Amino acid sequence: AGARGAPQDLAGLHVVVSAGGTREPIDPVRFIGNLSSGRQGVALARAAQDRGARVTLVAANLTEPLDGIEDVVRVGSTAELRDAVRAAAPGADVVVMTAAVADFRPARTPGAKIKKVPGQGPAPIELVENPDILAELARERLRPGQVVVGFAAETGDETGDVLHHGRAKARRKGADLLVINPVGGGRGFGTDSNEVTIVDAQGETVAQAAGSKREVADAVWDAVLKLSPPLAA
Ligand code: CTP
Ligand code: CA
Repeated sequence: AGARGAPQDLAGLHVVVSAGGTREPIDPVRFIGNLSSGRQGVALARAAQDRGARVTLVAANLTEPLDGIEDVVRVGSTAELRDAVRAAAPGADVVVMTAAVADFRPARTPGAKIKKVPGQGPAPIELVENPDILAELARERLRPGQVVVGFAAETGDETGDVLHHGRAKARRKGADLLVINPVGGGRGFGTDSNEVTIVDAQGETVAQAAGSKREVADAVWDAVLKLSPPLAA
C-alpha cells in the first residue's frame, strides 16, 4: 500500500486531470469566470497519485494548495487549458475533465483597458463559442485506447431533472464516463462533500457515490478501473 494506505491499483498509469475554472479575458484587467473551486479535481489528482498513478494536473486559476502533486501545469483561459490538456493527452491512459470550462469567450480582447464613458451605458461584449475540449478528446482519442471522463454539474429545470440532463449530456459528449453532480442550493461548488452518479456513454448508471470529495474521487477511479476492456491487469 502507498500513501494513506491506498491500494496501488493505478500503478503504471499516467492520468491527466484538469481542474478549476477558466477565465476569459475581456481586457487586460477583467475576465468572465465561474465559481468552480477546483477541489474535486484536486482530490482526483491526489487520489490517483496515492493509488500509484503518475499524474499531470492542469490547474485553471486554482487557489487550492497543490503541495505534493508532482506535475502541475497552470493555465488561465480556455485556450490555454485546451493546449495544455492536448499536449499531455498523447501520453495519458486516462484524461479526466473536471475543469469548469467557459462556454463562451469575448470575440475580441483589446490590449488596453475598456473605459466607461460617463452617461453612456456599457458597450456590449460580443461572445463566441469555445471549442468543447471533452467532446474533442472523446472523438479524437489522442492515444489509442485512452479512457476519457467528463464531469457535469447540473441543476434540474422545467425540461427535466438532474439525471435527465446528465444522461443526455453523456450521450452527446461521447466520453466513456460522465460524473453527474447536482449543484445549486449549497450543493457541489465550494463545499467539502459531493454526491454523484457516474454514467457511461449511453447514459446508463454504472456507480453512485456520496461523501467527501476524496471518497467521490476514489469512486471515479474505481469506475475507470471497472471499464472493459480493462485498463490495468
Ligand atoms: N467541457 C469542455 N469544454 C467546454 C465545455 C465543457 O471540455 N467548452 C467539459 C467540462 O470540463 C466537463 C463537461 O464538458 O467535463 C461538461 O461540462 P458542462 O458545462 O456541464 O457541459 P456543456 O456541454 O458545456 O453543457 P451546458 O453548460 O450547456 O450544460
Ligand atoms: Ca458548459
